Amino acid sequence: MAIVIIDKETCIGCGLCVEDCSRKAIKLDSNEKAEVNLELCNECSHCVAVCPQASVSMPEYDESEILELSKDNLNLDPENFLYFLKFRRSIRQFKNKEVEKDKLDKIIEAGRYSPTASNRQLNRYIVIKDKLNEVREMALKALYNMAKDPNFEMKGGVDYRPMWIQMYEDFKEKNIDRLFFNAPEIIVIVSENKSGFEKVDAGLAASRMELQANLLGLGVCYIGFFERAVNYNNEIKKLMGMKENEEFLISFVLGYPNVKYQRTANRKKADVRFI
Ligand SMILES: Cc1cc2nc3c(=O)[nH]c(=O)nc-3n(C[C@H](O)[C@H](O)[C@H](O)COP(=O)(O)O)c2cc1C
Repeated sequence: MAIVIIDKETCIGCGLCVEDCSRKAIKLDSNEKAEVNLELCNECSHCVAVCPQASVSMPEYDESEILELSKDNLNLDPENFLYFLKFRRSIRQFKNKEVEKDKLDKIIEAGRYSPTASNRQLNRYIVIKDKLNEVREMALKALYNMAKDPNFEMKGGVDYRPMWIQMYEDFKEKNIDRLFFNAPEIIVIVSENKSGFEKVDAGLAASRMELQANLLGLGVCYIGFFERAVNYNNEIKKLMGMKENEEFLISFVLGYPNVKYQRTANRKKADVRFI
């Protein structure tokens, strides 16, 4: 259970936290001061964020990292932002260059600040770098074995078996990496299977991490094949240090792009229904 402290000396009883609390965990007491029912709180910390008096604190969190509102820093131009989103591309060609730690930290931070169902914040991040060669070899072998496995059932419409066999052979014979594209790092989001929305939580985090990476000059490609490999061969989970109760949710390769796109790609028209 969270600890939420209201400084009754500075609370002016404006009720903004009461209004904004999604769990209706806050009310004004007989002295018109905010009062929290901790049993109902989901630690979303909106009360901390909305209070004009900075009267609310949650001492279990590192409050030194809380940022004060600065309108200048939120001044993103919507047209530019959409243009930027349209220019986002999956990157499959990378420079032989490492990702700096401070950039990686910012990318993880973008994931950390994404929304999660019921504010559970169960995403955990595994950065594969030192063990990348081992992981790649095992994953490519797992895809190959899956393709050759008569008991394996291919789901999802496309039969990737010929591609997986070719990927493994290309790797073995020509050292061509069609799984991770020689990216210097892979980020995997895992979590305990608890909320029922794990995949959504991880997808949202990954998407924001991708955009943050793009802004830092880095490129990303989600690797669904890696998840298939990991779920086929438990040894890869062990190599990645995944815990027994953790589920592999999403992965992407990360590095400096060695390709430049001159224009946006085609997209199908949006299927939108107004009701
Ligand atoms: C969940 C997911 C899994 C993906 N898995 C792979 C993959 O295993 N290998 C790959 O080369 N691209 C993969 N992609 C990238 C898609 O192929 C790519 O997003 C799509 O072709 C559109 O290209 P764009 O991202 O440049 O717009 C994946 C994308 C998503 C969202």
